[in-house]
Amino acid sequence: MKRIFSGIQPSGNLQLGNYLGAIRNWARMQKDYECIFCVVDLHAITLPQDPEVMRQATREVAAGVIAGGVDPASCIIFNQSQVPEHAELAWIFNCVARMGWLNRMTQFKEKAGKDRDGAFVGLYTYPVLQAADILAYKATDVPVGEDQKQHIELSRDIAQAFNSMFGVDFFPLPEPRIQAEAARIMSLRDGSKKMSKSDPSEYSRINMTDGPDEIAQKIRRAKTDPHPLPESLEGLEGRPEAANLITIFAALSDRTVESVVTEFAGKGFGDFKGALSELAVSTLGPIGDEMKRLMAAPDEVDAVLRNGVEKARAIAQPIVREAQDIVGFLRP
Ligand code: TYM
Repeated sequence: MKRIFSGIQPSGNLQLGNYLGAIRNWARMQKDYECIFCVVDLHAITLPQDPEVMRQATREVAAGVIAGGVDPASCIIFNQSQVPEHAELAWIFNCVARMGWLNRMTQFKEKAGKDRDGAFVGLYTYPVLQAADILAYKATDVPVGEDQKQHIELSRDIAQAFNSMFGVDFFPLPEPRIQAEAARIMSLRDGSKKMSKSDPSEYSRINMTDGPDEIAQKIRRAKTDPHPLPESLEGLEGRPEAANLITIFAALSDRTVESVVTEFAGKGFGDFKGALSELAVSTLGPIGDEMKRLMAAPDEVDAVLRNGVEKARAIAQPIVREAQDIVGFLRP
C-alpha cells in the first residue's frame, strides 16, 4: 500500500481552506493509503509563538483533523516535535539542499517580508524540515493545497540529490496531490489573497469552529462586485471574488465549478449568498460541533496523539537510522 504524509501547523484557527484544501482530502484518501498526518509544531516556531497558546492549538488542530473525518483508528495522527527523527533528518538535508534552492522559495519571501535579516534561520530552512517530514517515512504522495506545491517539489529535489550524492536509490520522489476544485480558497475580503489563519481580519475566513450565525454573517459580508453571476465559466475571468465564492460552493457540494455557474447564471449575489450560507452551515456545522466536543475532551485528543507518536516513531526510526548509515555516521 502506498504511504501518504501531510502536515498542518498549529498556529491560529483552522479555516475553510485547511478543510477543503487538505483535511477533507486526507479523509477521502485514508481508505486507499497508509496515512500519516502530522501537527507540525516544529514548523510553527519558525515564527514567534506563545507556548501555552501553541500547546492548545496543537490539540485543536488534531481535533479538527479527527472531526474532519480522519479516523484515528486507521491513520497515524501525531505532533512533530515528539518524533525526534524529523529534526535529525532535517539536519542531514540541510547539508544536501543548496542555498540557491531555498532562495527561490516564495513562502519565505512572503513570511519574512522586508526584514529578512530579522527572520529566524528556521524560517529560511523551513522547507528542508518539510522534506524531512515526508521522507522520514518514505512517503510517496503528499496531499496539500496549491500553496505547498513548491515545497513538495523541493522535497523531490532533496530526495534526488541525497540519492545521487551517496550513489543510492534510497528516498522515493514524493508527488504533490492537489485537489483541483479547492486547491486555493481565497480570502472573503480580497479575492487575490489566499484564505489564511494568520489574516488579521476575522471576516476574511470561515473557521472550522464557526457557528451558523458567524458563517452566515461572514458570507453576507463577503466582498463581491456589482454584476450578476455570469452565464459561463469565461465570465468569471477578472472577477476573483465571484470566482472564489463559486469555487467554495462547488467544493462544499462536491460539484464542478461549471455546474454551479450554470445553476446560478444571471442571478444576483443576494440569492447566491443565501444558498451558499445554507450549504456551508449544513456541511461545516456537524464538523465544528464534533471539533468543539473533542476540544472539551483533551484527554481523548492527547491519547490519539500519544498513540500516533509511538506508531510514527516505529516507522521513522529505522528509515532515519539507515539514512545516517548511508551518510557515514559511526554507530559505535
Ligand atoms: P498550513 O498549516 O499552512 O496548511 C495546512 C494545509 O492546508 C492547505 N491550505 C489551503 N488549501 C487551499 N486553500 C487555502 N486557502 C489554504 N490554506 C491552507 C495547505 O496547502 C496545507 O496543505 N508547510 C505546511 C505544513 C507541512 C507539511 C509538511 C505539508 C509541514 N510539513 C509535509 C505536507 C507535507 C503548512 O504550513 O501548511
